[in-house]
Amino acid sequence: MNFLRDLTDLRGKRVFLRADFNVPIVKGEVFDSYRIIKTLPTIEFLQSQKARILIASHFESKEGKTLLPVFNFLKKKLPIEFVTDPFSAEGKKMTEDALDKGKIVLLENLRTWPGEKDNDDAFAKELASLAEVYVNDAFGASHRAHASIVGIPKYSKGYAGLLLEAEIKSLSQAFDPKRPFLFMLGGAKFETKMPLIEKFFKKADMLFVGGALANNFFKEKGFKTGKSLVSEGNFNLKQFGTERVFTPVDVIVNSSRGTAVKKPEEVLDDETIMDAGPETLGLIQKLIWKSEFILWNGPLGNYELGFTTGTEDLAKALGQSKRDSVVGGGDTLAAIAKLNLFNKISFVSTGGGAMLEYLANETLLGIEALK
Ligand code: 3PG
Ligand code: MG
Repeated sequence: MNFLRDLTDLRGKRVFLRADFNVPIVKGEVFDSYRIIKTLPTIEFLQSQKARILIASHFESKEGKTLLPVFNFLKKKLPIEFVTDPFSAEGKKMTEDALDKGKIVLLENLRTWPGEKDNDDAFAKELASLAEVYVNDAFGASHRAHASIVGIPKYSKGYAGLLLEAEIKSLSQAFDPKRPFLFMLGGAKFETKMPLIEKFFKKADMLFVGGALANNFFKEKGFKTGKSLVSEGNFNLKQFGTERVFTPVDVIVNSSRGTAVKKPEEVLDDETIMDAGPETLGLIQKLIWKSEFILWNGPLGNYELGFTTGTEDLAKALGQSKRDSVVGGGDTLAAIAKLNLFNKISFVSTGGGAMLEYLANETLLGIEALK
């Protein structure tokens, strides 16, 4: 793979930087800027080499389809212009004028064009024609077979940006880890995460499975899970035993009677498991203290519905532990950001689905496309 950091002569060259600026927006403003901030070193590297910089990203938000909230955020930090349609005569002129003035150009949401998600070859070629050099720094989107990720490098020489490189370096520690190695996985969708559990059952010394994923383990043990989210399917969880694989030892349930702390085996038919309980934190702390390297993705509770305690307590315990730690995932990131633990965790990934896919497959479509 080619790395941006090895390029030394970009003066006057047009660079198409694919970033992942798909960030949470609240009331028209960037709510969590982590992904943007993590892309700044790549932008600064390109600026220092006097490259002519075009930046593009996809964007999905309930608040709208335009990347303007991200532009407004970036405007406070960088000399930058927004171009809605870089293919029109007017857009081309705007782009040239901005680049001539030494400004960066941010393009509108790539998913404005259907060719992006369809990975349309003609669209990829058009995007590639906008620049001489392609840089992928969009780790969080590199599991997508979209034109700006896998299509452009067919037509333009591609390089991994500094963030993509850092993500690869940090996450791949999990493939040859310092030991003891603790792998912690939360969230939902057992069926998509089962391959990861199988893989890290072999690679890690200890596994902690929390969130709705744990409900499948409870079900397998014959516990009632009430109205809790449980994935359908037979996953043969007995194969893992109980020596190295841990699940919450108490849970917070919700019902018409309110919330309560229970043992997993005490959950009633009308109750829903919403979070891990306080005793589980004790277990997690012990597991963390025993470990030299910890990898964590996914919340322990229903974060979106406000059951944030388990996830935040875990984040705090990890922050205090001073262990080598790599974490990621949307809700996990939200907890780290809320508690401002960025300096206490060795590496916080910008990837959600991309992090999980990278851990499972040890590569991503977007990484392969750069090779
Ligand atoms: C993400 O937010 O996980 C990435 O930006 C990918 O977005 P997508 O799931 O809409 O492709
Ligand atoms: Mg998504």
